[in-house]
Amino acid sequence: MQSMQHKTTSRLPGFFKLPPAQRLERVSEIAHLDHAQQRALAEGGADLAMADLMIENVIGLFTMPLGLGVNLTIDGQDVLVPMVVEEPSVVAAVSNVGRLSRQCGGFSTEADPPVMMGQVEIPDVPDPATCLQALRDHTRRLQRMADSMLPELRRHGGGFRGLELRLLKYDEPGQEERHHVVLDFFLDCADAMGANMINTVAEALGDEIEAITGLRVGLRILSNLADRRLASAGISIPFQALSTAELDGSQVARQIAAAYRFAWADPYRAATHNKGIMNGIDAVALATGNDWRALEAGAHAYAARTGTYRPLSSWRATEDGHLVGRIRLPMAVGIVGGATRSHPAVRANLKIMGLRRATELARIMAAVGLAQNLGALKALATTGIQRGHMRLHARNVAVQAGARGTEIPLLVNMLSSEGDFSLARATVLLQQARSGKGSA
Ligand code: MEV
Repeated sequence: MQSMQHKTTSRLPGFFKLPPAQRLERVSEIAHLDHAQQRALAEGGADLAMADLMIENVIGLFTMPLGLGVNLTIDGQDVLVPMVVEEPSVVAAVSNVGRLSRQCGGFSTEADPPVMMGQVEIPDVPDPATCLQALRDHTRRLQRMADSMLPELRRHGGGFRGLELRLLKYDEPGQEERHHVVLDFFLDCADAMGANMINTVAEALGDEIEAITGLRVGLRILSNLADRRLASAGISIPFQALSTAELDGSQVARQIAAAYRFAWADPYRAATHNKGIMNGIDAVALATGNDWRALEAGAHAYAARTGTYRPLSSWRATEDGHLVGRIRLPMAVGIVGGATRSHPAVRANLKIMGLRRATELARIMAAVGLAQNLGALKALATTGIQRGHMRLHARNVAVQAGARGTEIPLLVNMLSSEGDFSLARATVLLQQARSGKGSA
């Protein structure tokens, strides 16, 4: 990755053991966060007045945990990754895979130029050939118009990147056949996600298209199947780096590759495989003020692009002793505009990542998706995911039972070794420990 931030390490041993305030202090030193930025992260960032400007009928604020994915090396540079997510194990999985993968060079990534597609549709076209010809005859006029609409975008290196016409047939069984003409146009959105720009151009082109064809234009909106804005990531891990207490690395690698083949062969498994990928991607999207619904829509539509729903990543165990993983998916994300401009916690998170281009964020998110996927598959293909989940759960139970400070890890160990995570058992164990009858 060419232009990434603080020349520092993302390897922060023992970070997870610090209390949250000290973790924030540590990352603030690394990323040079000022007092206001630190406060934004500690307290959530947005106030009621700001929220009231963001959506309608605001009645309050709703907070979620913000964690930091550590240890990641991407394209030879260390990156700290803010993640907003309510699910345990997501941040831990990315950080664990980061630690494991940095020994073998980390992730390599690529991203397409940030080209998004907008659509202007003409429904129920009575004479498609005439309609298409009229639009072809005026292509240059439409191009000039779209090109001139966003001078600011052009100054930032983006702009209009062409248009295409398509004839669609609506032929749902039992319904009357109809035709739609669609004009797809393409904008390089530079560092923005681009939805507003695309929709502005779509609506303006729509008026022009009505004048050209004499037909009523239907929908004018961007497409979330952003398949010209793909990001990809890859990793190659020597078998030995994958070994666990119970299994040697080559066995783990083969089991992960088999788990991938299961997902390739079965859409029911592929949906869950891809959900694991999106656990990481959505968490970064939330932390950076990006539209995770757009990313979800794009990812799943792309996964089904061949007509069969497939996994977004692949894993193979190679003859020369490596587990090789790849991911490629649409990544329509921005670092300017919308919440990225106005939300103080989002701004602080972008500063932690030290991003200068939206394509850098897209590449990091592809790597995080692949890391997340590897974390899940490694657990699933070996011990199962419940062991990790239950330790976190045990911590919550210990705190609920009243454990404090050093009592918490001791109680977690006792609950885990007994395999009973009930609040009732935690309360008994804590009482015993405090009265000197137990070991907590
Ligand atoms: C849970 O949020 C995600 C997983 O189900 C992903 C997977 O099964 O690959 C663990």
